[in-house]
Amino acid sequence: MSIIRGEFSSRFGFVMAASGSAVGLGNIWGFPTQAASNGGAAFLLVYLILAFTLAYPALMAELIIGRHAHANAVSALRLVSPNRLIGNIGALAGIAGLVVASLILSFYAIVAGWMIAFFFASIADLFGIEALSVWLISFSTLRNIMFMLIFMALNVGIISAGVQGGIERWSTRLMPVLLTTLALLVIYVFTLDGALEGLRVYLLPDFSQILSPGLIINALGSAFFSLSLGVGTMLIYGSYIKDNENLPVVGGMVTLLDVMIAVLAGFLVLPAMYVALHSGVEIFTDSGDLISEDTLIFTVLPELFYAMGVTGIIVSLIFFFLMSVAAVTSSISMLEVPVAYAIEERGIDRKIATFGVGCVIALISCCILLNFETFFSAVIIFTTRYSQPLLGFVFCIYAGWVWQRDLLLRELRKGNPNISEGLFWKIWPWYVRLVCPLIILAIFVQSIWG
Ligand code: PFF
Repeated sequence: MSIIRGEFSSRFGFVMAASGSAVGLGNIWGFPTQAASNGGAAFLLVYLILAFTLAYPALMAELIIGRHAHANAVSALRLVSPNRLIGNIGALAGIAGLVVASLILSFYAIVAGWMIAFFFASIADLFGIEALSVWLISFSTLRNIMFMLIFMALNVGIISAGVQGGIERWSTRLMPVLLTTLALLVIYVFTLDGALEGLRVYLLPDFSQILSPGLIINALGSAFFSLSLGVGTMLIYGSYIKDNENLPVVGGMVTLLDVMIAVLAGFLVLPAMYVALHSGVEIFTDSGDLISEDTLIFTVLPELFYAMGVTGIIVSLIFFFLMSVAAVTSSISMLEVPVAYAIEERGIDRKIATFGVGCVIALISCCILLNFETFFSAVIIFTTRYSQPLLGFVFCIYAGWVWQRDLLLRELRKGNPNISEGLFWKIWPWYVRLVCPLIILAIFVQSIWG
């Protein structure tokens, strides 16, 4: 059966969609606080080096395999395999990838639902409806399920409209909005007292930490999660790129944008934390580290916004809008992975597939919410700490060892006939063969025993 596949209409469309997938909640709240607690600019430096020397090559592995196959990860890994056995192992990895992508979405939708709830709470504050605002920011099963469902409905709406009508259209609209909002917030935060102290913490390098294994592993983990590697999202986006597109260049643009936005988010979050400290909000944990993750977003920053009066309500509204936008452009890429499989391998119509997969993922999210203590962190750890590196390892092995080198080169030549003379072809094949798998394995071993 032949199915007409979607395709990104332009380079801009692809770069917005793929950087939209990469830029998510991880960049805006994970990266800045990690940098602050791991040596400031020293972490930044290690992160930048690893993003370009290791995460970028792994991203290229997914993009090239995807573009060659013009298919989902299951058929793509089968296609590049020399025999049935290796093909079946690849197909199994592709299926594992789509399960992990769905599980990541099931917790991401919960967190994104909180962002939307906080956004609406700011609107309620603006209109003085205090009871509603309090309900929206309080942790309750009803609120959690309701906003997770709203978020999933948004995803289903976008993905059911297809590659150009859904993913590309919304990414090209939302990514510029995200960048502008982030830049405006950064400029605003620098007008407040205490911001420069945060900037100092962010940018002053503590080189005594630069060679600590913990710092390197953290920076590498951040870079991999941040570029959405290991679950087939970049592979499926790669499969929608036109054949004449120069892959190393567009992959480089996506990496650059992802890194730039993470770094820019640091100029917002760290100064904002010290502004909060300046207005009497506690920003350190008992052990003296900076507060991070959920407490940062849902306690420290809201307390800061509250202390700022009416201006604070507007800043809060803009901030949670930014977080919701960042979440949507990432989550649609996760949903596209199982949906593309259902369409291409099972012959299901896109709208039905999207609705069906969306319902299954919403159901998993409900199970997590109803057993929050047991499942929430367990799913995050299982997917991001263990599954993503392992599957990333498999993609590198298929690009570096399984797929024939001359076929790979032929694929790259489609977008750049002289590629074999350039730097990329001199370095990348070795990276993806040896350096990437070994380093990923090292992170994996460290995350089990570390
Ligand atoms: N890159 C996203 C972030 O930084 O928040 C997270 C992510 C998106 C992970 C898509 C995995 C994925 F497939």
